Amino acid sequence: MLSSFAKVSVIGLGYIGLPTAAVIASRGVEVVGVDVSEHAVNTINQGKIHIVEPDLDMLVQAAVTTGKLRASLTPEPAQAFMIAVPTPFKDDKAPDLSYIRAALENIAPVIEKGNLIILESTSPVGTTEQIAQWLSELRPDLKVPLDPSDNADIFIAHCPERVLPGRVLQELVSNDRIIGGITDRCAEKAMGLYQLFVRGECLRTMPAPPRWQS
Ligand SMILES: NC(=O)c1ccc[n+]([C@@H]2O[C@H](COP(=O)([O-])OP(=O)(O)OC[C@H]3O[C@@H](n4cnc5c(N)ncnc54)[C@H](O)[C@@H]3O)[C@@H](O)[C@H]2O)c1
Repeated sequence: MLSSFAKVSVIGLGYIGLPTAAVIASRGVEVVGVDVSEHAVNTINQGKIHIVEPDLDMLVQAAVTTGKLRASLTPEPAQAFMIAVPTPFKDDKAPDLSYIRAALENIAPVIEKGNLIILESTSPVGTTEQIAQWLSELRPDLKVPLDPSDNADIFIAHCPERVLPGRVLQELVSNDRIIGGITDRCAEKAMGLYQLFVRGECLRTMPAPPRWQS
């Protein structure tokens, strides 16, 4: 396959991450799924699933059998990292971004120049920029996209997941997707990944200009 994404890593193998990982693997891309749950990792590596979603068992079994999908507790280098960890509300109803922060801390050591990081978790406005800020602290050697005019080493984008449970495999492919890059280059790069498996329209967007000026 002619693609700049020979290997993709999906962080968080739950109701969103596992179907996403399996669909991308079914397109012939090597996918490594990372989860903190040993039970999830062991179950997936046996070609089985630990969640309930129609037809996902067959897709995962096929992807694991062909060697395109495997799960791990430990992140490894890849061209793209898709973050699909939980984003629950805290007691005060503020969104809890600690899972995203933990996922980023985990993958930071293996991130390389040219990598794409996509946030799929449902998140408040500004979270993608928060990821860029966190990454700049975790990996000061990398130039992150915190300014639209820059030539960053890393591409960061947000593509919120909107699938309906029970129809996830169909909707992952047929739904239109909104792909927001921190910069236009980030959005362009992320479009390339989604176009590998999405048949719906991929709509490209960026933060509005005033956010850059404030
Ligand atoms: N489930 C849905 O129908 C749905 C639909 C749209 C959006 N979303 C959003 O997608 C995101 C993921 O939801 P979900 O339903 O897949 O959650 P989930 O609880 O089913 O799966 C999350 C997975 O992430 C793992 N995880 C937690 N911390 C981790 C870390 N630091 N590193 C690696 N893995 C980690 C967990 O062990 C779990 O397997 C949330 O933001 C949710 O709001 C979910």
